[in-house]
Amino acid sequence: MRQHVNPLSSNFNQIERIPSLSEMFGDSKSNLHLDIGCAAGEFLFDLALVNTSWNYLGIEIREKLVKNAKSKVLEREIKNLYFVFGNANNILNDVQSKIIIKNLKSLSFNFPDPWFKKKHYKRRVIQPGFVNILSNSLQKGTLIFIKTDVKDLFDYMDYTISSNYYFKIIDKKDFNYSESFNPNKVKTNREKYAIVNQLDIFERIYIKI
Ligand SMILES: C[S@@+](CC[C@H](N)C(=O)[O-])C[C@H]1O[C@@H](n2cnc3c(N)ncnc32)[C@H](O)[C@@H]1O
Repeated sequence: MRQHVNPLSSNFNQIERIPSLSEMFGDSKSNLHLDIGCAAGEFLFDLALVNTSWNYLGIEIREKLVKNAKSKVLEREIKNLYFVFGNANNILNDVQSKIIIKNLKSLSFNFPDPWFKKKHYKRRVIQPGFVNILSNSLQKGTLIFIKTDVKDLFDYMDYTISSNYYFKIIDKKDFNYSESFNPNKVKTNREKYAIVNQLDIFERIYIKI
């Protein structure tokens, strides 16, 4: 069991410079998806190789994972995938990232760290203030996907996002995945683990109105 990284540690107050979209991607005009807490990025590698008309950006707080993922992108010369190291809450609160947020078609929170103890809830990546930042900067129509195998965390995330007037739940049965960032329903590592171990998976999609 890995030790979770405390995102509130002052180690993450400094953030790396976020490059412009044209520095990150071969075609900066492609649809942009952001995955928050992407770990080693396998999910995004799988997506980027299949869906070449989308750009994928991953943010991850474990520096070594990001370093390795960045090297793999360079080695394989993948032009529609980029990784940024740091605490997503600080990164997306920074003025440099406003242009990225404005350009997002969608973002995902896949199986975020649950931080089970109540006194640690403030370490969870989805926070009311963070949802406000997103609602102030995302364009209308941008989608947020959440997924977890922890019911309590799902309820917490759902409550936090739904409490913001600008996010409305999309009924999954009305949702057309073929036009989304993940038309083939590629699975994340934690999702594969949850499926193999027959854990319930709770998920929801929101749209910015
Ligand atoms: C349980 S793992 C899930 C990884 C992957 N999304 C999956 O579904 O397999 C959660 C990931 O989120 C990262 N993480 C946690 N808090 C974060 C934060 N505030 N900013 C960026 N990454 C974070 C963790 O380091 C970890 O890699």
